[in-house]
Amino acid sequence: MSTKVTFWPSGKAIEVKPGTSLLTAARKAGVLIQTRCGGNAACFMCKVQVRPGSDLMPIADDERRKLAGLDEQGCRLACQAKARGLVEVDVPLDPLRAAVQKLLAKQAEESDDLW
Ligand code: FES
Repeated sequence: MSTKVTFWPSGKAIEVKPGTSLLTAARKAGVLIQTRCGGNAACFMCKVQVRPGSDLMPIADDERRKLAGLDEQGCRLACQAKARGLVEVDVPLDPLRAAVQKLLAKQAEESDDLW
C-alpha cells in the first residue's frame, strides 16, 4: 500500500515510508510548518488539520493528552502524527504571513478608494 501525504492549500504531495511523521513529510515536500521545539511535542506550533478519511498510525497517549480533545476535530501535531496510507493535511497559514497579507489587502483596498 502506498503512503502519500498531500498538503493543502499548496497541493504539494510526497510519497513516504509508513510511519513517517507529517513534519518530516512536509519538509521533504518543501512545505513550511512552523516549529520551535524541534519536534518534541512541546511548542504546539506544528498543529495541522488532518482531513477525514486520512490513514494515520494510531495517536499516542502523550499526543492525545496534549491536544486535550482537539484531536477529535482532526487537529494533530505534525511532529507526532505518522502517516500510514493516504493522508490529506491542511496547513494553517503562518501567522506572520497572514498578517502581511491582511495589511497588503487593506492597502490595496485603500488605494482603490483614491481612484
Ligand atoms: S514541533 Fe513543537 S509541538 Fe510539534
